[in-house]
Amino acid sequence: MFGHADAVAVADDTATYSNAVSRHLQVPNGFDGAAHRDYRTMIDRYFTDDAIAGFEPTLRSICADLVAAVPRGVDVDLMAELAEPFANDATCAFMGWPDSLRAPMREWTEKNRRATLAVDRTAMAEIAVEFDGHIRTQLDARRGRPATDPTGALLEERLDGRPLSDEEIVSIIRNWSVAELGTIAASAGVVAGFLARHPDVQEQLRADPGRLDVATDEIQRMNSPFVASRRRVTVATEIAGTPLEAEDRVYVVWTSANRDPRVFGDPDEFRLDRDPADNLVYGRGVHYCPGARLARLELRVLFEELFSGTTAIAPGAQAPVPARYPAGGWSRLPVRLT
Ligand code: HEM
Repeated sequence: MFGHADAVAVADDTATYSNAVSRHLQVPNGFDGAAHRDYRTMIDRYFTDDAIAGFEPTLRSICADLVAAVPRGVDVDLMAELAEPFANDATCAFMGWPDSLRAPMREWTEKNRRATLAVDRTAMAEIAVEFDGHIRTQLDARRGRPATDPTGALLEERLDGRPLSDEEIVSIIRNWSVAELGTIAASAGVVAGFLARHPDVQEQLRADPGRLDVATDEIQRMNSPFVASRRRVTVATEIAGTPLEAEDRVYVVWTSANRDPRVFGDPDEFRLDRDPADNLVYGRGVHYCPGARLARLELRVLFEELFSGTTAIAPGAQAPVPARYPAGGWSRLPVRLT
């Protein structure tokens, strides 16, 4: 589904287009109906304004340290120097994981990216087991103790009166952290790359950082870092003139739908007055991203720190290198900070 109307039609019709697409347990995104709703009611509590507000000071100090460490006056790859460590360190801190886990998590993300791009299923399975091991170590350290972070709080959750199984908790945390590690790094790169190439917008936001939330949504509309989501057809139907059978798979391509000229006019025109309901960067409907508030907070704080720590973000001599699907955004983003 490349068009906006078709993407919306599929996302909204959860009876015809199911999220049960994988044979692996995926909490909450692999579920439909009441089971999905129960998981989401629980998960959404971790991402309310109140729940994430206390994270801002820690996040700010992580961003300030990382921004200060980027060399000035020379071309750097912003993905490797800032966006990826930012996503990694922010995720570990939000989950309440120790600083000692930051380096292993970065290595894990890199291995995971290489295996995913190479479609190396054996390596991907081994890497998934390694990740589960990291999470189970964190769970074991918290069992039987009062919860002080989201990782510990999941151990205390009750669903229909029963505790979550370790498999459910690992799946929930995998969805939070892998989503966050990959997507938020890509988002930071997409926004930084755009600001480097649009000094007028950069000046506008440096003067008025209060518009950062709206601006990062609009910049990501033009180059959505979360490219596509799969759905399974449950009954024979037809969409966009194409007949579909039960068990067919369809992809909702957010990146393309967000550039549909029938909805956005010139898709490359940066505008702060667009209707936020049209922007599909965080998805749509019951599967709308539960982490959207956290993602906006993280991007706002990162760019506030980048603005206060620099006078300009300028393009590097070499062109950015687009990431390869399923990743979005840039894999290399040469920029120069002054
Ligand atoms: C800029 C960063 C992010 C973007 C662009 C993004 C985008 C999306 C999109 C498009 C979906 C819808 C998927 C679908 O309909 O199948 C989604 C779902 C989801 N996102 Fe995000 N996301 C981001 C950050 C995060 C963060 C920070 C978290 C958690 C910490 C998170 C957790 C999830 C989860 C668990 C789902 C599945 C929800 C469900 O099926 O009910 N995301 N995200």
